[in-house]
Amino acid sequence: MPTSFLCEENFAKLDKVIDKYKGIGGALMMVLQEAQGIFGCLPMEVQKVISQKLDVPLAEVYGVVTFYSQFRLLPTGKYTVSVCLGTACYVRDAQKIVDAIKQELNIELGETSKDGLFTFEATRCIGACGLAPVITINEEVYGRLKESDIKEILAKYNK
Ligand code: FES
Repeated sequence: MPTSFLCEENFAKLDKVIDKYKGIGGALMMVLQEAQGIFGCLPMEVQKVISQKLDVPLAEVYGVVTFYSQFRLLPTGKYTVSVCLGTACYVRDAQKIVDAIKQELNIELGETSKDGLFTFEATRCIGACGLAPVITINEEVYGRLKESDIKEILAKYNK
């Protein structure tokens, strides 16, 4: 895992955030949100600091981080590939698109490729059902997909 995001500078920013919220109700949630903004994710190294400095048990910090889907334990890739698994996409064979992406990137849903380029995730309906099945890659939307389109689409990002 790349560790550059766990640099002193980011921990110094985290200290300031903790000082800002310490002693205030709901501080843990606010600190976690800002910490994710700083580090991009909330690995154990970051959770331990939050636990110690906010005086909240590590188990509680970990419980909150893993309960809310907005929080991530690992860094995301440069590109997030999201496959819609909403009903319209699902009935139009979104699962085949999932399988094609898995095969192409050699990772499972929820994982990031070893080169740090792609994070692969599933999403609910993004409101583009007329284009089903749909994927997004960061802000870009790709619709009416066939399995055979996947290789070429991903290749554009893999330069
Ligand atoms: S179900 Fe996929 S965009 Fe609506």
